Amino acid sequence: MRTGRIVSASLALSVALGLSSCTTTVPERSQVRSIKGAVDVPVGVAIDVRGTAGDAASVVSAEFDQITAENDMKPEAWYDDDAQFRFGPGAKKITDFAVAHGMSVYGHTLVWYKQNPEWFFLDDEGGELTGSASDEAFLTERLRTHIFAVAESFHNVYGDFGTDGNPIVAFDVVNEAISDANDDAAGLRDSSWERILGEDYIDLAFEFADEAFNDRFAAPDADRPVALFINDYDTEFEGKRDRLHSLVERLLDRGVPVDGVGHQFHTRLSTDVDDLGAALAAFDDLDVLQAVTELDVATGIPADNAALDEQGDYYRDAFRIFRERDDPLFSVSLWGLSDDRSWRADEGAPLLFGSGLTKKPAYFGVIDSAE
Ligand code: XIL
Repeated sequence: MRTGRIVSASLALSVALGLSSCTTTVPERSQVRSIKGAVDVPVGVAIDVRGTAGDAASVVSAEFDQITAENDMKPEAWYDDDAQFRFGPGAKKITDFAVAHGMSVYGHTLVWYKQNPEWFFLDDEGGELTGSASDEAFLTERLRTHIFAVAESFHNVYGDFGTDGNPIVAFDVVNEAISDANDDAAGLRDSSWERILGEDYIDLAFEFADEAFNDRFAAPDADRPVALFINDYDTEFEGKRDRLHSLVERLLDRGVPVDGVGHQFHTRLSTDVDDLGAALAAFDDLDVLQAVTELDVATGIPADNAALDEQGDYYRDAFRIFRERDDPLFSVSLWGLSDDRSWRADEGAPLLFGSGLTKKPAYFGVIDSAE
């Protein structure tokens, strides 16, 4: 296990109020003005550019410590229609917003089987890449070029990683590498990456990311300033979790520079909240950080008042589990700000804020988790 960032909002609050750090006084709900003031783990939110303007922007900066780009840092977002790399306009806007508000950024994602430019797995003549040695070398070079270009863009605008002006603290290097099939012995998802490069694509992605973010474009005196994560969903279920655990063990055994495991936790009221704790506990034997990266809790339809109240209790209990761990989590991120903009809106009101940015019982559940 590795220890996360030392950020303690409630400790800071105690100090500000002149309370001793061993006091057990807990602020009343009415005194707590924000999630970040109440929860002593960094809390993030996934946004697109709409989250950087108007009322949404005020809520994002007032309530959260950290931002993830919901789509704007995915591979396809970095290229224009002529396949030219440029600093994605959404990524730039979101990162500027984070800097302006003193927030950190959790990058998402360098390598995924989805949301890639159409030409990513084609050769220069437009032919499908195969597993031949020359195609392997071609795709490896494309992987390296992509990862270095992303790191260099941030560096050129915000300075070295690990300096005050650069808000990037983590990146999902590889997203959703694990197969959904319980009978899949290899455990890896069938993807273009896997088909062409085999499991090696994961090693290579982490090695390139480490070189780019933590060496070439990092402050000389910074100690690996960008935490490199492998991220996946359904770790609250045993099969997926075991396959991810085995992969991370193999990576660590091979000396691959993986710093952390991200649990997406796209969950629902019917999933026992203790299963989230079990998912985290299952990785405590490994020398990795852990983060909750994409939390949302669908109520099912209809999302009536009873369901919304139950969801409030679920969020409260989930955040208690997240906060009470011996090894602090790196961060806990919500996958979106308000229900109306959620990718799971059809499954029932999954987030903390309703339309009009009203605070739901889910919001107060998170605040109450600190009591
Ligand atoms: C989702 C976004 O929320 C949607 O807006 C987009 O259309 C598809 O991707 N796992 C991930 C995220 O790692 O990148 C996905 O985000 C949700 C599932």
